[in-house]
Amino acid sequence: MSDKTTSDGPKADVDSLQQQLAMLQKYNINLSRAGLAALIEDTARFGQFSANACGILYDYSRVRIDQNAMDMLLDLASSSGVAAWRASLFAGERVNITENRPAMHMALRTPELHQHLPGDDASRLQKAQEAMLELAATLHRGQLPNGGEVTNIIHVGIGGSLLGTRLVYEALGPGAGPAIHFVGSVDAHLRERLMRELDPASTVVILVSKSFGTPDTLIHGKRLRRWLEDALGEGARERMFAVSGSVERAEQQGVPGKNVLYLPDWVGGRYSLWSPVSLSVAACLGPEQFTQMLQGARDMDLHFQQAPKQENLPVLVALIGIWHRNVCGYPAQGVIPYDLRLGLLPSHLQQVIMESTGKCTTLGGEPVSCATAALVFGEIGTDAQHSLFQAFHQGTDIVPLNLIGVVRPDHDDAEAHEELLANMLSQASALARGRSQDQTRRELNASENDPLVQHRSFAGDRPTEVMLLDQLGARQLGSLLALYEHKVFVESVIWRVNAFDQWGVELGKTMAADVRLALRGESEPDIAIAGLVREIRKRN
Ligand code: F6P
Repeated sequence: MSDKTTSDGPKADVDSLQQQLAMLQKYNINLSRAGLAALIEDTARFGQFSANACGILYDYSRVRIDQNAMDMLLDLASSSGVAAWRASLFAGERVNITENRPAMHMALRTPELHQHLPGDDASRLQKAQEAMLELAATLHRGQLPNGGEVTNIIHVGIGGSLLGTRLVYEALGPGAGPAIHFVGSVDAHLRERLMRELDPASTVVILVSKSFGTPDTLIHGKRLRRWLEDALGEGARERMFAVSGSVERAEQQGVPGKNVLYLPDWVGGRYSLWSPVSLSVAACLGPEQFTQMLQGARDMDLHFQQAPKQENLPVLVALIGIWHRNVCGYPAQGVIPYDLRLGLLPSHLQQVIMESTGKCTTLGGEPVSCATAALVFGEIGTDAQHSLFQAFHQGTDIVPLNLIGVVRPDHDDAEAHEELLANMLSQASALARGRSQDQTRRELNASENDPLVQHRSFAGDRPTEVMLLDQLGARQLGSLLALYEHKVFVESVIWRVNAFDQWGVELGKTMAADVRLALRGESEPDIAIAGLVREIRKRN
């Protein structure tokens, strides 16, 4: 840690972070007095506070900062050792210190990085990626490798073993290949319905689990295997595929070893959509589209490594995140894609951001000295305008928003698209400007004491960042998703937390084993939930 910063060890790093944040907070007091509405009157602002890369325009001119604040944030990135940590990340060093391994998901899309992979992983990875693309091409033609018919794929997985992949499917699909059905939560309703509706003789099941120890996935896998076996006997095995770090465990669940694609342990679940985890989507869209997406992510990897920090999108987006979270003290972050195809982006980013930096312990093992991950949530626009936006405009918490728009849609309805973009931009403007009581009174032609004036006024000063994509092809999508991955990494460096572990999800998972026994009446429940266990047993 200490060699990656300019200071003298973990304690000094934390002190220096606190000092720099305190300076920024003090500086922000003056900016708050001026307010965003005044700042945005400067016509040079858009040029000053926007940047372009990989077909993405990032506009942060409606964030309440000025050049001094931005310079201080850029200094914070330098003194936190962002450049050195980034070099370590890309060199395959063991940046995931609590699991003692690298975080090399970029090697899935940037072959130049294979030289940094541990052991014989470069050749294993190469083989797995090639096998995946070959299998995807066969499935895309509606066939099994042995020639059987394929019309439907059931993709079983949870968290990173499903979310990113599903987002890609929604964003770029439906392709010309088989239809995909995603089964995540252990809730059996969807899977039971699929078993009633689909024909096992033309369905393929892909179990995706890095650990192959996740109960949700194993339970669905067991049921689906029986469903195939009941209908097809021995032929069932040909229709079972898996993506996992453990071929043995997948085989124990009835998947033939030749049908298991390898997922290295240095790819975290939430960073794994670039890997064979996305076999189902590559099969549906065709391998070319998938390869294009990898290319887009590679573009962003190179940009992140090479662009100067003041033009570097992941660095800038991360610094604005730090500004909102640690300087302004905003607890949440909204993600509003003005494009139906990106409807799952909020859920995916929820996992990428909250599982990566929702941490309270530093790399040095000390309690963190400042707030970390904001609560991430969102919904597509314009739908969100009829649910979330009331609170965004007039609620007591300020929620900075990421608005994502696409200039050229893949349909011909220019009027509808213009309306969509007009909504995104007008919201950005209204949130920044607000409407003072005087303005409201004038516009409503209201009397001096009209009580409605207060209700219909807007404080403004609410920040929005806009990500504007030229179009939403596979390549741009790859760049966008990689941009957010790297933004999270930069924030983790500044906060001194490990972005690549997720110990926080363990405790509840391990306790579920005891609760299961208690629900069956085979053990005494924990007193914290005993009343509910009793009631469930009584009512069942
Ligand atoms: O939510 C915890 C987690 O470990 C995620 O990181 C991962 O994406 C998910 O569970 C699924 O894990 P697995 O792929 O091992 O089934």
